[in-house]
Amino acid sequence: MLIIELLNLLCRMAHSRVHKDRGELRIHENLDELGTDLAEYIAELSEASVKERGVFAIAVSGGSLIGLMGKLCETPYNKTVDWAKWYIFWADERVVGKTHADSNYKLVKDALLSKVPVVPSHVNSINDSVSAEEAADVYEFHIRQLVKTRTINVSDNSDCPKFDLILLEMGPDGHVASLFPNHPMLDEKAGWVAFITDSPKPPPERITFTLPVINSASNVAVVVTGESKAEAVHLAIDDVGPDCLSLPARLVQPTKGKLVWFLDKPAASKLDGSQFSE
Ligand SMILES: *[C@@H]1O[C@H](CO)[C@@H](O)[C@H](O)[C@H]1NC(C)=O
Ligand SMILES: *[C@@H]1O[C@H](CO)[C@@H](O)[C@H](O)[C@H]1NC(C)=O
Ligand SMILES: *[C@@H]1O[C@H](CO)[C@@H](O)[C@H](O)[C@H]1NC(C)=O
Repeated sequence: MLIIELLNLLCRMAHSRVHKDRGELRIHENLDELGTDLAEYIAELSEASVKERGVFAIAVSGGSLIGLMGKLCETPYNKTVDWAKWYIFWADERVVGKTHADSNYKLVKDALLSKVPVVPSHVNSINDSVSAEEAADVYEFHIRQLVKTRTINVSDNSDCPKFDLILLEMGPDGHVASLFPNHPMLDEKAGWVAFITDSPKPPPERITFTLPVINSASNVAVVVTGESKAEAVHLAIDDVGPDCLSLPARLVQPTKGKLVWFLDKPAASKLDGSQFSE
């Protein structure tokens, strides 16, 4: 209830423009189906990207999203995906050691990187032995080098990196990556990687891609499961009027790229009826 009150408060405070197109909705009966569809989606984008650019630059975040990617480690994807062409990044990371339970790197390493042959030098994680500020700076510099060599493509209407795919989750408060409601970071226009030291959700120190980077990607997928996020899904996707648009998930609006929502039934349960395509 508290979260819903907070969301409603945000909506009253916010003012921005209405986004008509909220992307493609894929609503699944259960997590197993969602996982199958997600693996297929990632495998297809990987194939298309390798064909076009020779590489696949993918950024992930943490949470249950990573577990839902698990089918990539199984037949047929563990053999058919061109893992040697993957360059993996983190759209947000907790500034903790790489072996810490809160580390998104550890999560991905345990669930994915330890099971499929991604080249270790293509795994682009943060430096875990410096401050949040320095980690963000160094990570942005590193991404700049890879944009120069076009390992990551570049957006044609800004100088932003154009990741082939950015995979996000959304929290019950509507946060994505480590972009939290009402946080000044939502207004960041210039930087690519920002740091925060006041995350409302522990741990407090994190780095995160900024909205310009997320919205420059070729593809952005937001994976949301569970009833606790149903209200935020409604506010992020439905036509709720112009007042609800400072919700971080609502600000995910790829300029040229494609946005896809992977939802389970409980997460989709408060969407306006017209949104259901099944
Ligand atoms: C791929 O995954 C299957 C399980 O689905 C497993 O039996 C097989 O050993 C894996 N292959 C490789 C090359 O890891
Ligand atoms: C991380 O930063 C520290 C301090 O600047 C540096 O000594 C170390 O080599 C860096 N680690 C990596 C993996 O780049
Ligand atoms: C890189 O992105 C630009 C637009 O930003 C696009 O025109 C171009 O086709 C992309 N390059 C490749 C090799 O996909």
